[in-house]
Amino acid sequence: MATTTLGVAVNGATGRMGYRQHLVRSLLAIRDEGGVELPGGQRVQLEPVLVGRNSDKLAAIAARHGIERWTTELDTALSDSAVDLYFDAQVTSARESALRAAIGAGKHIYSEKPVAESVAAAVELGKLADQAGLRHGVVHDKLYLPGLRKLRRLVDGGFFGRILSVRGEFGYWVFEGDWQEAQRPSWNYRAEDGGGIVADMFCHWNYVLEELVGPVTAVTAKAVTHIPERRDEAGQPYTATADDAAYGIFEISGGIVAQINSSWCVRVNRDELVEFQVDGTEGSAVAGLRRCRAQHRGFTPKPVWNPDLPVAEPFRDQWVEVPDNDEFDNGFRAQWEQFVRHVVVGGEHPYDIHAGARGIQLAEAGLRSSQEGRRIELTSTAAG
Ligand SMILES: NC(=O)c1ccc[n+]([C@@H]2O[C@H](COP(=O)([O-])OP(=O)(O)OC[C@H]3O[C@@H](n4cnc5c(N)ncnc54)[C@H](O)[C@@H]3O)[C@@H](O)[C@H]2O)c1
Repeated sequence: MATTTLGVAVNGATGRMGYRQHLVRSLLAIRDEGGVELPGGQRVQLEPVLVGRNSDKLAAIAARHGIERWTTELDTALSDSAVDLYFDAQVTSARESALRAAIGAGKHIYSEKPVAESVAAAVELGKLADQAGLRHGVVHDKLYLPGLRKLRRLVDGGFFGRILSVRGEFGYWVFEGDWQEAQRPSWNYRAEDGGGIVADMFCHWNYVLEELVGPVTAVTAKAVTHIPERRDEAGQPYTATADDAAYGIFEISGGIVAQINSSWCVRVNRDELVEFQVDGTEGSAVAGLRRCRAQHRGFTPKPVWNPDLPVAEPFRDQWVEVPDNDEFDNGFRAQWEQFVRHVVVGGEHPYDIHAGARGIQLAEAGLRSSQEGRRIELTSTAAG
């Protein structure tokens, strides 16, 4: 079967996400296995061109993985006719201008989230890409997690009856950098550099809720900076100007209420770093990154509140593991493959810049809710 090649400019390949999840676990893994298979059996091979700021780091990555081309000049990559697709995993604040340039150069677009720093900019990027007739996509990785795919299967099968509520708990302790090195980059804690947990996580929560239970119609959130000072990669103290925890209530059409806590200042007493509990009239389920456990109405215990007696029931043991019934690949890779098929043969790819803009709209509304101390309704006008 014939193989075509898609040149992919990868900007931000030295970063946490760009290197590990996108370059190594997705693009190179696909390349090493002979490319993405299309519905007709043909294959699309991927040829990465690294783009970044530090030539030493780029050269080292290229040598380590047998990548022929890299450049520190975005324009060089964008004027290369062998580059068909531009991918951006840079710091958020550097993204918009690079995406504009890539659209201007006629490249298809795939991007980490958030796709821009404001909903207005994201909406405009979507319009520009549409007008130029380009294909575009934004990373929606959480939807490809085994736990969430099993949860989605339960929703599709009508397991829950009428869904009432969603409870989400995301987070872990991110070290301040004084005593133990921080495990996240320092820009995450500086608002002026595009940081903040609302900007980071509400984009995810928007598509997770949209996909599982329906679009968010209103948000009430409290965003806080619990740790006011941290130390950066060089060990220097800096003021944390961005929120490091957010406590949100999301109203969903149909009367469903979701509450999601997002925090980099919480110690994990859960089975996974993120967990969502969905409660419905017929059953409930708790999904994490990998696992999903459910409890049907017929197996629901009947606790009676009595603080004078010790807990008599092993509540956690009363849930049933939802079987995989499928093979789950790395979520980032699964979406890459889907997006490459979309670029080459067309068809559906709902996770585009417009969807990314809706995520930013929720983040902006969440921050506004927190600043103004009130509930914010979302209109569909901004992000379609
Ligand atoms: N989908 C997800 O689950 C997920 C998770 C984490 C981060 N992200 C997103 O991925 C992007 C990158 O995050 P990361 O955690 O990999 O960050 P990182 O700091 O590890 O990497 C940032 C990359 O951007 C480059 N860069 C370009 N201009 C820069 C500048 N002015 N200052 C600093 N670095 C600059 C860096 O060289 C590096 O390659 C962000 O937009 C973030 O929101 C997504």
